[in-house]
Amino acid sequence: TRIEKGGYKHFMAKEIAEQPLVIADALRHYTGGGQSLRLPEELDFASIDRVTLVACGTGSYACHVAKYWFEQIAGLPAEIDIASEFRYRDPVLSPASMAVFVSQSGETADTLAALRYATGKVAQVVSVVNVPTSSIAREADLALPILAGVEVGVASTKAFTCQLTVLALMALKAGLDRGRLTPEAVAKQLAVLGTLPGLMSATLGLSDAVAQVATDLAKAQDILFLGRGTMFPLAMEGALKLKEISYIHAEGYASGELKHGPIALIDAQVPVIVLAPKDGLFEKTVSNMQEVMARNGKVLLLSDAAGIAEAGAGTWKTLTLPQVDPLWAPILYALPAQLLAYHTAIAKGTDVDQPRNLAKSVTVE
Ligand code: G6P
Repeated sequence: TRIEKGGYKHFMAKEIAEQPLVIADALRHYTGGGQSLRLPEELDFASIDRVTLVACGTGSYACHVAKYWFEQIAGLPAEIDIASEFRYRDPVLSPASMAVFVSQSGETADTLAALRYATGKVAQVVSVVNVPTSSIAREADLALPILAGVEVGVASTKAFTCQLTVLALMALKAGLDRGRLTPEAVAKQLAVLGTLPGLMSATLGLSDAVAQVATDLAKAQDILFLGRGTMFPLAMEGALKLKEISYIHAEGYASGELKHGPIALIDAQVPVIVLAPKDGLFEKTVSNMQEVMARNGKVLLLSDAAGIAEAGAGTWKTLTLPQVDPLWAPILYALPAQLLAYHTAIAKGTDVDQPRNLAKSVTVE
């Protein structure tokens, strides 16, 4: 079947807008009436000693978020790498571990080679893929489809949030299998995840406000994204999206690393986008943000109403997101990151769906 833009100007806009629907689909597929997990029986975290997560590009940031989840939720040691490094660095894999390969296309050459390297060396090879007929799906012991539907825009959007959703459910299964979570605690988290599609729809309502900020961002030469905890990989994803389609140099940094280098770049010309839901790390991130402001940095703060009320004063701009459980905030904060990249690219007039030099699927090394 031919995939159409369905009234949107770009596939990317359509795919961003589809997220509440596809996330709801994925949650429905992998949960029994939203109450219990319905992941395959063979996916067993009880007896493994470690999970190793490997991907390229946007998928690698989904893995990075999942590392925090597996550790926090399940107390399971988690390791991440990008496939191009993993495949050549002679990684030491425990025979009792699980290796997880995340890929939208399921055909990325480095990720496939990484999967083949792990095969036979670990207890279980799992893939998290969008294309269920792909090589990475077929060659894994177990493939979990993310159910995002066809993604056409070169810059990944709905596949990222669907990857996060499936990885979140895997982390909950790990918590259950390892006795860290009761079935009731899992049901409670599933109920929270069930609110995400609604929160995502509300967040998409920020699109016009983002478009306004983007007219200024489009004039920047460099943009910095900062975040702590799971907002650190989100900062890197925000920077990746932005450079991919607007060609503005952007970097995602862990807030705490600011003073170890990037603070040297701060002046009134460099917008600094701070991703900071009001969670347990909020005060820490705000103190880093204030270091930026003390050096005339132009801060765009993304937080919830409570966070903006507490720390919005003196910032250049703010965007207020709905309040969300801090654990699952990355799934929601992906949306403004995507919208910022999209609207900045529109303001610059670049080709959003087909950015120069990039391919949707990188099947050669
Ligand atoms: C390319 C795409 C990215 C994607 C990456 C990994 O660089 O432009 O959007 O994240 O490949 O692709 P995969 O299909 O393995 O997720």
